[in-house]
Amino acid sequence: MKSKSLLILLFSIKILSAQTVEPVTFSLNTKDKGAEIKPTMYGLFFEDINFAADGGLYAEMVKNRSFDFPQNLMGWKSFGNVKVQSEDAPFPNNPNYIVFGSAGHKDKNTGIENEGFRGMGFKKGANYRFSVWAKKMDTDDSQNIRIELINSNNSRIGSVDLLIDSDEWKKYEVILQAGQTDPKGLMRIFFTSGGYLCLDHISLFPENTWKGRENGLRSDLAQALYDINPGVFRFPGGCIIEGTDLETRYDWKKSVGPVENRPLNENRWNYTFRHRLFPDYYQTYGLGFYEYFLLAEDMGAEPLPVVSVGLSCQYQNKGEHCHVAIEDLGSYVQDALDLIEFANGPVSSRWGKVRAEMGHSEPFNLKYIGIGNEQWGNEYPERLEVFVNAFREKYPEIKIIGSAGPTVDDNRFKHLWPEMKRLGTELVDEHYYKDPNWFLNNAARYDICDREGPAVFAGEYACHVPGRANNFYSALCEAAFMTGLERNADIVHMCTYAPLFAHVDGWQWRPDMIWFDNLSFVKTPNYYVQQMYAQNPGTHVLKLTRDNEIIAGKDGLYASAVYDANNKSYILKIANTGDQEVSINVELSGLSKRAKLTLGECKEFYNRNLEIENRIEEPFNIVPVATFPILKGNALNVKLKRQTFGLYRIDL
Ligand code: AHR
Repeated sequence: MKSKSLLILLFSIKILSAQTVEPVTFSLNTKDKGAEIKPTMYGLFFEDINFAADGGLYAEMVKNRSFDFPQNLMGWKSFGNVKVQSEDAPFPNNPNYIVFGSAGHKDKNTGIENEGFRGMGFKKGANYRFSVWAKKMDTDDSQNIRIELINSNNSRIGSVDLLIDSDEWKKYEVILQAGQTDPKGLMRIFFTSGGYLCLDHISLFPENTWKGRENGLRSDLAQALYDINPGVFRFPGGCIIEGTDLETRYDWKKSVGPVENRPLNENRWNYTFRHRLFPDYYQTYGLGFYEYFLLAEDMGAEPLPVVSVGLSCQYQNKGEHCHVAIEDLGSYVQDALDLIEFANGPVSSRWGKVRAEMGHSEPFNLKYIGIGNEQWGNEYPERLEVFVNAFREKYPEIKIIGSAGPTVDDNRFKHLWPEMKRLGTELVDEHYYKDPNWFLNNAARYDICDREGPAVFAGEYACHVPGRANNFYSALCEAAFMTGLERNADIVHMCTYAPLFAHVDGWQWRPDMIWFDNLSFVKTPNYYVQQMYAQNPGTHVLKLTRDNEIIAGKDGLYASAVYDANNKSYILKIANTGDQEVSINVELSGLSKRAKLTLGECKEFYNRNLEIENRIEEPFNIVPVATFPILKGNALNVKLKRQTFGLYRIDL
């Protein structure tokens, strides 16, 4: 009995000593404002991977709406008399359409149904805009179709009839209301008259899109992006810029103009992982460059398009024959130059006119362009040089972003950095998909790096924990690492987590910042860390030290501080990655005598379970919560629980 009590006592002492640690003091020099933090510092990287565009952010609910997938009826089931045809098509870039004919008996039916993107999500009471291009054939009579929304029990939950009255191709539109909520419904169309009827570009959008736009975005997902407050928006990827081969690279010119005539492209992520094959993954380009620019504008973020440098994905293609020969780069360079005209040119210019016809006569004020994604070897700089020379001559004001290859610190990276300096790109795009130790051990990588030459764009990064989960620990390591990005904002001008989106039923790659199904979505812990930074970017770096040293890992602590000239406040970001609570006194020096500090909004992001994740069914397992540290005179006392990321605002 006695020895049991002793054991309990020893155990309690051990727990107590594990929970307490000597208080530490941080010094915050408020007087000497450091580097300016670029408004682009915290942003978003968008790529059409994991069904992020078609089937995701792009609100179109019909898969293969123009029957131009190589298997023409992929995504559709037909019944009765349905044929695919291409003569006299209304949209030459999408040449196929279907023809309904009578099923030949009064009790038989002709029609088709579309499965959507792993189902269609319907919300009870919500309106859906059905549209179709159609013409009747060989008859003076009007023709009819009935459109039905079907739930996952195969019952009708919405229906409307549509009359087709012209024998010329014409667009018809009608609104349907869903009588039930169902994440995995489908749409069925019956031919309800005789004769023949041609149909193309069959489309269904929720009426409630982001900003109510017709060719719009899912409002919940776009809102989640907006709520981050991104400073820069990189699009359209990623590897899809390069394509599986040159033919399937992202070609921005195909992604603008009337949506019906934007040609289909095979998504580079269609075949990439054999163990997660999605052979129905095509890009309609419905979410194209115009829509990307608009979204950037809506979010108040600098647009950052990335274009092909004439190299197809180097992972998938070896040898010169897969790439564009240097002497043949002309059209690729012209495409990149024309993009500047599309974004910024006057309406009298060829591409400025296209933009204006799409609804935006004002320029988008594009300032940056990325050329090439994860490229390497000599193949890259020798091609990039051709682009750089052309841009310096025609658009010297545009900032060019070059690539440092697929990962940091390897031979490809070491080869490319001097090359980017030689070419004089303004920024270099670095990617790191690394484990937690790498993130923690690299928090000071930019404190000790060469400050001559291009700035850094941390263009793709994510902490990969075992199982590649979007768990709290991965987000905590990212938060700790990002203190180093912030502290070095003189050379790090942008950073974007990647990838951004994943459909729960159609993903190739994880972790991802936002997961969604056809009706809802979830913000991962990684989302919240990005948001905490992007909503509190500050304007100038401040010197924050512990014993005159930067705070980048000692005792598991990582920290940075900024001044926010817009709101007149100091913002501290502190990550405690250790397993003990720490009492931190932050002493502010250099304040004027008249300064009167008050506590601003402070938040902590914490959970005892480092492996916790948010899921669609449990979206709020972990969210940042308000906290109220003690501010006394010119000192802030923070009791930072073990494994916590804290954000503290002190207002002047
Ligand atoms: O973010 C997913 C992929 O990772 C990107 O397409 C590519 O640039 C990188 O390899």
